[in-house]
Amino acid sequence: MRLVPAFLFLAAQVLVLAGGVSVAQDSLPPGPGHDETVKACGGCHDIGTFSSIRRSQGEWETTITNMINFGATISDDDFDTVLAYLTTYLGTGPPPAPPP
Ligand code: HEC
Repeated sequence: MRLVPAFLFLAAQVLVLAGGVSVAQDSLPPGPGHDETVKACGGCHDIGTFSSIRRSQGEWETTITNMINFGATISDDDFDTVLAYLTTYLGTGPPPAPPP
């Protein structure tokens, strides 16, 4: 009965992949700068790469700069918008209440 463990392993892989798909969806909270952030940050990796991370403003500034070094194209305006969004919604303080 060597097939049974192999089958269970495959089934577990499918579950992991299915879970990955749901995380890959846009899971950023709505708010000012949301669309710019998805546009600037969703191209190379999933939004899920960072949507559960919490960083200070300085740490996010470093992160965005790192992404630009990786090849991200973010205008100066969008840099400020995305930084403000990340600091507000993925910052170290409590997130603001969602807009009505
Ligand atoms: C040009 C492609 C590209 C774009 C656009 C991009 N990234 Fe990345 N990102 C990468 C690469 C490459 C890595 C390193 C490999 C990996 O983890 O996938 C990475 C890794 C990360 C990491 C994990 C490493 C860390 O610093 O902890 C975070 C967080 C991150 N990106 C956030 C962002 C955010 C926020 C944006 C939008 C400002 C963004 N990325 C846009 C290419 C990109």
